[in-house]
Amino acid sequence: MSEHHLYPVKPEIAAMAHIDADQYHRLYRQSISDPEGFWAEQARQFLDWEQPWQQVLQCDFLNGDIHWFMGGKLNASVNCLDRHLDTRGDQIAIIWEGDHPDYDAKLTYRELHREVCKFANVLKAQGVRKGDRVCIYLPMISEAAVAILACARIGAVHSIVFGGFSADALRDRILDADCRLLICADESYRGGKIVPAKINADKAAAQCPNLTTVIVIKHTGHAIPWHPERDICYRAAMAEASADCPPETMDAEDPLFILYTSGSTGKPKGVLHTTGGYLLYAAMTHKYVFDYHDGDVYWCTADIGWITGHSYVLYGPLCNGATTLMFEGVPTYPAADRFWQVVDKHQVNIFYTAPTAIRALMAQGDGYVTRTDRGSLRILGSVGEPINPEAWEWYYHVVGGARCPIVDTWWQTETGGILITPLPGATDLKPGSATLPFFGIKPAIVDNDGHILDGVAEGNLVITDSWPGQMRSVYGDHDRFIETYFKKFPGLYFAGDGAKRDEHGYYWITGRVDDVINVSGHRLGTAEIESALVLHHDVAEAAVVGFPHAIKGQGIYAYVTLNAGVQPNDELKKQLKELVKEEISAIALPDFIQWAPGLPKTRSGKIMRRILRKIAANDIGNLGDTSTLADPAVVDDLLAQRARQ
Ligand code: PRX
Repeated sequence: MSEHHLYPVKPEIAAMAHIDADQYHRLYRQSISDPEGFWAEQARQFLDWEQPWQQVLQCDFLNGDIHWFMGGKLNASVNCLDRHLDTRGDQIAIIWEGDHPDYDAKLTYRELHREVCKFANVLKAQGVRKGDRVCIYLPMISEAAVAILACARIGAVHSIVFGGFSADALRDRILDADCRLLICADESYRGGKIVPAKINADKAAAQCPNLTTVIVIKHTGHAIPWHPERDICYRAAMAEASADCPPETMDAEDPLFILYTSGSTGKPKGVLHTTGGYLLYAAMTHKYVFDYHDGDVYWCTADIGWITGHSYVLYGPLCNGATTLMFEGVPTYPAADRFWQVVDKHQVNIFYTAPTAIRALMAQGDGYVTRTDRGSLRILGSVGEPINPEAWEWYYHVVGGARCPIVDTWWQTETGGILITPLPGATDLKPGSATLPFFGIKPAIVDNDGHILDGVAEGNLVITDSWPGQMRSVYGDHDRFIETYFKKFPGLYFAGDGAKRDEHGYYWITGRVDDVINVSGHRLGTAEIESALVLHHDVAEAAVVGFPHAIKGQGIYAYVTLNAGVQPNDELKKQLKELVKEEISAIALPDFIQWAPGLPKTRSGKIMRRILRKIAANDIGNLGDTSTLADPAVVDDLLAQRARQ
């Protein structure tokens, strides 16, 4: 690991940074030796409280019992909007850039505040009360920000479902959170194509008996089906709504939102985040990790359907009074220079995206980048999956012109905000390493028996103590929260990732160690895809694994065993792909489906995924120990099939 190139902190970046190397080490030590004092200080600095807390932290990892700022009262929308009105009411809060480059819009803090108050009143008029769950199925339009903050204003718990998810996936999430109200668009644009959002929403809503109201935002303006007894036109409702909406007083530990994410078993789980700790952690990491300064234009390309969109498109930046850019489109439309065109158009200073996008653009050649200026850029960020050093170097040299530090930020839906990351003015960079922990974060590496390893080590990544942004529960299933994160290594938060630590104490994330795969930065459970495949009446069994993919990071490889007597054919493959698309999303489509007359199993019937992963990766020279297989011949069959693939 030590042979990797080291990029020392740039003096000009350190000179203007909020945190330099000395401050990082001093503050980090303080955050670990006196966490309560440290976090109380940050909470006072970053947030406006209606009432102070009585106790900073109460935490028991064994029971998944985590509380921050107990008794403290605040409102997230007030922190993101109202408190900025006096000082920066006319500053741009949101720059919206449409899918097509001719469309953009800007919203000041005052305008956003007004829209949010009005929409909060619309929700109230529909009977939405504190604690009710509201489902948001919207593309990247500014009304999505309005909807989210309106929920926060009245204490409703939002559950955002990524616009690329299918009607069935939407239905499952509405049912699990028992949402009564859904907010969707008529349609959305994506890379010049139209996504039938309302049609999907209708399909889902038809199967959700408790869902009584659908608020529809006109975006494309095309004709859509309408159910007058249930559907409400956003614009018409907003036209009548009052712009005066006093915020609900929320407890620090009142839920702010639910966000579904995939795990290694079962259905996606509703990750529950609460108000005070989450907001503090999002705001603080946003300021220090991106070295955000007043006046900066900040752009995170994530969709609001993912946690990155929650924390670093909206909550963190708005809480800090930043100008945040929301982009509806894709990196390659109308051409592969779109990101850099947008950077130039809006003079973006801080740019945060995913390795899969960087690799895809790298494959298109440097020309698309070098024909743009990008002189406004100061900081670059990466998130969602390990960034390979080649992509890192390209991002650094070609995109950033060797001027901009790259913050490779490791975190998860569950963590609420960034946990391991460089700070631009403090941390020397090594391409491919997420480097060092953020303030208050105590990572450790444990072996499979849970022993904490010292020094240079490789194993399972855990976090030993709580931080304010940590999820508090799985919605409706607290036992699953304990089981998933705190059982494997009792007393430690287990992230599901593997990591190495080098001689400088730098962390290198090696990827998931469970049955979760990361496809183009999208997190998918192999079990979910398998469940979709076995719904087909000709399928007896399916096993899905990830395999290395040059652009997507990981691709999806499905082994499918058909029922006796069924002849494999291409039509069947097509049907299976269609099924996955319908059940989950096009993002979960298998790259390969291999017919498997049998699957390699142990004598106790457990599928040996290790072997399936090796075959999928074409790494068949060393399949490892196959002596425990119930029927070793199965592997020869699979290898023969693989060779024909
Ligand atoms: O495997 C890690 C990977 O993404 C997982 C979390 O996925 P999700 O909850 O969808 O959140 C993505 C955005 C925070 C992690 O368990 N991951 C995320 N960031 C990195 C990463 N792997 C390596 N390096 C990263 N910077």
